[in-house]
Amino acid sequence: MSRSLNLAVIPGDGIGQEVVAQGLKVLNAVLPQDVKLQTKEYDLGAQRWHRTGDTLPDAELDSLKQHDAILLGAIGDPSVPSGVLERGLLLKLRFAFDHFINLRPSKLFPNTATPLAGRPDIDFVVVREGTEGPYTGNGGSIRTGTEHEVATEVSLNTAYGVERVVRDAYERANARPRKKLTLVHKNNVLVYAGHMWKNIFDKVGQEYPEVTTDYLHVDAATIFFVTQPERFDVIVTDNLFGDILTDLAAAVTGGIGLAASGNINPTGAFPSMFEPVHGSAPDIAGQGKADPTATVLSVALLLRHLGFDAEAGRIEEAVSADLAERDGGTVRTTDEIGDALAVRVAG
Ligand code: NAI
Ligand code: MG
Repeated sequence: MSRSLNLAVIPGDGIGQEVVAQGLKVLNAVLPQDVKLQTKEYDLGAQRWHRTGDTLPDAELDSLKQHDAILLGAIGDPSVPSGVLERGLLLKLRFAFDHFINLRPSKLFPNTATPLAGRPDIDFVVVREGTEGPYTGNGGSIRTGTEHEVATEVSLNTAYGVERVVRDAYERANARPRKKLTLVHKNNVLVYAGHMWKNIFDKVGQEYPEVTTDYLHVDAATIFFVTQPERFDVIVTDNLFGDILTDLAAAVTGGIGLAASGNINPTGAFPSMFEPVHGSAPDIAGQGKADPTATVLSVALLLRHLGFDAEAGRIEEAVSADLAERDGGTVRTTDEIGDALAVRVAG
């Protein structure tokens, strides 16, 4: 049986272009001969917006839909007003393709720098809700710009939306050796949404008797991310809490150059999108200084999502081995790191 992988690629802005090139290099090296890889590149992001005023036209949204998955670099530039590309492109994609799982693994690889004392054993994954909470655009302002301005930003939580992300998190916890799932919320203050989350978490949990469960308020979770990160296995949480927690998670596991993510629609109704957590880094763009590892690890998530488990595993092992041999004194370019990883996964 011949297999195929039909991939949409959005390199985007700044270092997005540079790191995506390395992600594709490693992808080409890891895929077996019998897998037919087709890629289609999309010109979206700050440059496109400056040129044409487009963020994400419907025709391109429809075209993106025809792929098995999307690989994205980074979108954004200081020259574009804040919110234009976030709402018009990134959030639009996540909502249009119903990416209700925002998956962000955090692992402390050997030989990487962590600000935490004693090098704790960190290997957890955050399952962040991706389509609800305060990110739906349910808000507005009146008397804007006056001293009587009123602004609302409503957090939207549906039983349907919470149950599907909670169930996905139980599935992921159940498939991991430790089988532990922690719900993070703030149900002592955000009582309506918080109690619904907790009730659904408890109800769905009855179907997963082998999974150990825990609950933490989000403020306490930030303490434990720093003092006891080894206590976490899988974490499920709301869109906003997940956004903030995963930046902290990246900071304690070697930094933004290593943090991968997936915007996943597990039903397969729409393509899922994989991207490094970092942005377009205009401060180092065009200098070959960007670490492509986060993008390469995002390619591994993409492959695992599509059922290429062996290939995903080879990428993760290659990254682990590459990091283990890095020494602080030698600085490699983006391209050199990509080459080294491509050689490892091919060998
Ligand atoms: P950023 O993640 O682009 O950069 C933060 C810092 O980390 C910078 O000092 C940068 O040089 C460094 N850095 C980031 N990625 C790196 C890598 N792979 N290797 C080495 N160093 C790396 O965040 P910032 O500066 O807040 O945002 C820059 C632009 O990116 C903005 O326009 C922002 O809106 C956009 N952005 C886009 C995201 C996306 O496309 N999903 C996510 C975050 C920001
Ligand atoms: Mg963020």
